[in-house]
This record gives sequence, C-alpha cells and structure tokens, in this order.
Amino acid sequence: VTCPDGHVTANRACCALFPVVQNLQENLFDGGECGEEAHSALRLSFHDAIGFSLNSNKGGGADGSILLFNATELTFHANGGIDDITSRQFPVFETTGLTPGDFVHLAGAVGTANCPGAPRLQFMFGRPPPIAPAPDLTVPEPTDDVDAILARFADAGFDASEVVALLSSHTIAAADVVDVTIPGTPFDSTVGTFDTQVFLEVLLAGRSFPGNGSQPGEVLSPLAGEMRLQSDFVVSRDSRTACLWQAMVNNQQLMVSSFAAAMAKLQVLGQNVNTMVDCSDVIPEPAPFAGPIKFPASFSMADVEQACASTFPQIQTVAGPAPTVAPVPGS
Ligand code: HEM
Repeated sequence: VTCPDGHVTANRACCALFPVVQNLQENLFDGGECGEEAHSALRLSFHDAIGFSLNSNKGGGADGSILLFNATELTFHANGGIDDITSRQFPVFETTGLTPGDFVHLAGAVGTANCPGAPRLQFMFGRPPPIAPAPDLTVPEPTDDVDAILARFADAGFDASEVVALLSSHTIAAADVVDVTIPGTPFDSTVGTFDTQVFLEVLLAGRSFPGNGSQPGEVLSPLAGEMRLQSDFVVSRDSRTACLWQAMVNNQQLMVSSFAAAMAKLQVLGQNVNTMVDCSDVIPEPAPFAGPIKFPASFSMADVEQACASTFPQIQTVAGPAPTVAPVPGS
C-alpha cells in the first residue's frame, strides 16, 4: 500500500511507523548516525528481551519493560549505564504513541541500520504493554564464564551459534561503566562500522589495559584505547564456541545473516507473533561495508591466538604504526 505521506509498505498498519522512524533519526540518533545512541539502542533491545525464560518466569521478554519499569530494572548490576539511553529514549517514546516494547525494538533496529555493513533487521509491530519488570540476573555479565553464558542463553532459547551471532553486536560497541575513568572505550578499532573486525581483534594477543588497570570483566586488549571484555575473550577461545567465532572473521555475509536471524528471534521473545504485523520495510536500508577487514597497523597472523583448528583467513595489515583507538564521542 501507499501511505498518505507517499511511503510504500507491505501493510497499511505500518504507515504509522514512518513518522516515528523520522522522529527517532532526528531526535535520538543525531540525524541518522551510528553513534553512541545507536549503539546503546541495540544494547537496550538485548537487555529488555533477555528478560525471558523457557523454563521459569523471568519476565515478558521483548516487551519494553526495561523502559517502562526502569526504576526497577535499572537497579540491576548488569544494567549499568543503561540509564543513559532510557533517559534519552523516554521523552521521544512519549511523543510516539507506541507501546514501550514496539518503541525499544524499533529504536534498536533503526539505530543498527545507521551502521554501515549492518543487516536491515526485521521489525515486527504489535507488542502489548509490559505487565511487570523482569527479575534480576537475566542479563549476562562480562565476569560470567562460558558455562554460565551458554546456560543463560539456552534458558532463553538460544544455542551456542546464536550466542556468537548475537555477539556481532560488539562490533558497534563501547564500554562506559566497565572502567568509569574511560567512558566510550570501543571493543574494536572500527566502532562506527558493522564489520567483522571485533571477531579478529578479540583473537589478538592482549598487551595492555586502556584505562585504570584491570577492572572486573575486563582482560588485556591488543590496542591502546580499546577495551576487551572477559566474556568475549572466553567465548572466542572455548572449545564449544571458538570455531563459530573464527568462522565470522572476514566473513561479512555469515556475520550479517546469522546476526539478523538471531535478532529476529530476540526481538520477539515472549511475544505472540501471530498477532503482530511485519513492518520490516520501515527500517532504513543500511549502507554497505566495502571490506575486506584488515589487521590493525603493526599486527599480523603472528599476533593471533588461534583457538580453532580450521584454516584462518588471509588478512592484510593496515600500513603504519599501531593505532590508538579513539573513544566514542558523547559517551
Ligand atoms: C555474553 C553476553 C554479553 C555480555 C557479557 C555483554 C556485556 C557488555 C558490556 C559489559 C558492555 C559495556 C557496558 C558499559 O560499560 O557501558 C556491553 C556493551 C554493549 N553490548 Fe553487550 N554483552 C553481551 C551480549 C550482547 C548482545 C547479545 C548484544 C546485542 C544483541 C549486545 C550489545 C551491546 C552493545 C551494542 C553495547 C555497546 C553499547 C554502547 O556502546 O553504548 N551485547 N556489553
């Protein structure tokens, strides 16, 4: 159908979303940037949705409870730093007429689409209002071991390959509260691009800490100005996940398709998809990533701590001296 404003979409119900997407781009994402708010919108969508369990009552999943019941959920330790994005999203949310769940997961999809190389995520429309806050301890922590991480995700319905796929998100990610002395410290050297660089850089031998020494959940990183989460480190080297991790290195297509599939599942956890409308065509088409990825300057295969026996992809090195990764502005 053609909407009154001229947009074309598969279902008339989706027409209401085009002005909301524009509102998000103008009032939350600085005119459509892959910046701090876009990164945090994706993180928020995860922290909301993972409040769910197949086996016990752990919340309503992708219901927007983290936005509506922020007074409760933001006290949970794993939600450190989330107050920043909920306080920026709330005033925009109030202008849209959407339910909290639709708003949080639309913002996650639109924010991700602002990052070159990202997939155009699915967006299902029609989440009812959340009933109650999720309980504590549903969100994995960077101090968790691989057993705990895989168990928590399995409890929410995700296998090991889906966990690795979802961790692609850390290609557009930075930490504000792991080390509070260095807000906005990225997890890879290309934090504004949805590429496979994070899968490569987490495998490089660690050399230093970017800030105030070793913090809980942090391990040595290869580059000045870069943060490495202990959870990414252990997942990249565990026998259950190492080959899944390595397979992502320089395989943009695999990363994008597996991330999109896992996100499609995450963003409707606990929801009745039969009563929802597929409004994916309201999500902007992301710019492509030209690729291929490269080793950061001065790094090579000799720095890779390979944990999977499969052949490692051939990767060139950026010319010049080792870079210092800049913090994400506005963090
Ligand atoms: C084992 C699972 C995970 C752990 C332990 C974990 C942990 C973390 C931590 C500690 C931070 C930094 C927070 C801060 O200091 O500000 C972070 C950031 C982030 N995470 Fe994860 N995460 C996990 C999985 C995911 C998943 C599944 C997604 C999305 C699908 C995601 C998306 C993000 C994003 C986008 C950021 C950056 C936010 C920003 O730059 O503002 N994470 N994560």
